[in-house]
Amino acid sequence: MYTSFDETRLEKIVRLLKSHKFEFLSGEQLSRSLNLSRAAVWKYIKKLQSLGYKIQTRQNLGYKLLAKPELLLPWEVADGLQTEIFGRKIYYFDTIDSTQSFALRLASKPYENGSIVIAERQTRGKGRLNRRWISPKGGIWLSILLKPDFEVSYVSLFPIITSLALAKAIEKVLKLKPRLKWPNDVTLNNKKVAGILIEASIETNKIDYLIIGVGMNFRIQPKMVSRLLKNSENFYGITTLVGKNKESDPVELLQKFLYELEQLYRKILSGNLKEIRNEWIKKSSTIGKNVTISTPTGLVKGKAVSIDENGALLLSRKGKIRCLLVGDVSH
Ligand code: BTN
Repeated sequence: MYTSFDETRLEKIVRLLKSHKFEFLSGEQLSRSLNLSRAAVWKYIKKLQSLGYKIQTRQNLGYKLLAKPELLLPWEVADGLQTEIFGRKIYYFDTIDSTQSFALRLASKPYENGSIVIAERQTRGKGRLNRRWISPKGGIWLSILLKPDFEVSYVSLFPIITSLALAKAIEKVLKLKPRLKWPNDVTLNNKKVAGILIEASIETNKIDYLIIGVGMNFRIQPKMVSRLLKNSENFYGITTLVGKNKESDPVELLQKFLYELEQLYRKILSGNLKEIRNEWIKKSSTIGKNVTISTPTGLVKGKAVSIDENGALLLSRKGKIRCLLVGDVSH
């Protein structure tokens, strides 16, 4: 595991190398700036190379950074992150069972509001309704821990703001036009590119903590993942945000997503729910369609007419409006 707060030396070396993009940085200079021996600097350079950083080394000249790996390393995510709450602390794993389970363990500790847990790969990724979530390398798998000070009725807004933030970030960074499928899927060409799992602990009508789990199929092989999921309930196809050989930085997408999410979270805090609702509806592929919703108590059919300010879906059938908080939609 790496974190954004322990690996200050690695972070500093990367920052120094980045600020000398077109020239060599001498071992002497690095060791002076970091207050480390030359041998220790060399050890850190080796470590970075083993993580996938392409660093050219030249005797008498020093080191030059040629390329960084396509990984969500915590110091890379922290570098340029424009948020105040989300990502204050970043925990990073190459492989973990589930970022959600790790975040759950953090929940009982102090000073973890806004912490995020990222993994390159999950071995037991959790989906909604106890489904499994296939999480190979190439995806963006993360959990955000929040300890918000508001009432339980707000919980249903989190799938809404998270999916909206995802869509906005994908649009801005990748120039794609994703759509939102109620309650919390993000789709491209009617196939799923991202999913959200919200887990909350409630105490006497107050939210104790809330974990926002986000899975983005950033650069995955849809065929391989689809093969594993084909027989699951409500599977409607998945796709990848970025193709195999296209250059794109997952760090930039993640940073933008966290920024957009924090902006929307602030809107909840200030009670600006109408704007969230309107923005979500504009991007939704569910509203206006005749849908069948599979709910814990059975199938419900109707026309999806809107969502209310808590994110509940409003279904119209035979002149009556029904309000649904959970369910799986088939369009
Ligand atoms: C869904 O079923 O659509 C929700 C999928 C949520 C997956 C993410 S990946 C990161 C986090 N850790 C998990 O184990 N699940 C969530």
